[in-house]
Amino acid sequence: MPLSVLPHRDDLMRAAAERIAQLAERSIAARGRFDWALAGGKTPEQLYGLLARPPYAARIDWARVHFFWSDERCVPPEHADSNYRMARESLLDRVQPPADHVHRMRGEQPPLLEASRYEHELGAGASGSAATAPARLDLILLGMGADGHTASLFPGEAALSERARWVAATRTGGSGVARLTFTLPLINAARAVLFLVAGRDKAQTLAAVMGREGASSAAAPVGTAAPVGTAALPAQRVQPTDGELEWFVDAEAAALL
Ligand code: 6PG
Repeated sequence: MPLSVLPHRDDLMRAAAERIAQLAERSIAARGRFDWALAGGKTPEQLYGLLARPPYAARIDWARVHFFWSDERCVPPEHADSNYRMARESLLDRVQPPADHVHRMRGEQPPLLEASRYEHELGAGASGSAATAPARLDLILLGMGADGHTASLFPGEAALSERARWVAATRTGGSGVARLTFTLPLINAARAVLFLVAGRDKAQTLAAVMGREGASSAAAPVGTAAPVGTAALPAQRVQPTDGELEWFVDAEAAALL
């Protein structure tokens, strides 16, 4: 499991932007499209802004990119907490993909209805038909919370154990805020998953995810995932079945590795 540690946040964003551009070029060359699920939260906003400016603005064929979201807060699209709004303002308004390539999770809709609708949008989008097997997205970009959550898969929440659905309605563990989220079957079906993690507040959790916290001599070396089934934290359970998993972190987040 490749782990790239960059000295500063700016270096991290440049490294992640370069990798995403490579994945986009590879997907478009191979299949004529790049199906990319964006992450929410605060960390990726700087990355999206970088991709919206030279050299990436011209390097990626944005007309062939389909944008999805790996999770969304159950709020309207213009709400300050909307992951869609953050991506629209930092990236989409500047690269201007075709409107029908922006597959927004409709946070303003009843969550259970939207979860079902979005599954059909994913099936029609990424694989060309509403298939039964999880849609195979080219890239799912993910962040990680200090509690080890990723997308909106929170420790102890039922969505984390979902084995059939691709999209689930859930709530954050603490504040109980309603969310929509990709499930592990969908995430682990991706061609590539890229984690983007920055900040000292993530160091303890990243060490645990990488199997370093309380490490014994027998502990897995840095960068290897916990064996399937033993993983407690949601981020540890992202283990693509037949896809690439890469971590891009800054030195602060990697402080305990
Ligand atoms: C969200 C994200 C969530 C996020 C982590 C890290 O909707 O909040 O999808 O999984 O990636 O909470 O968030 P920060 O980047 O803000 O630390």
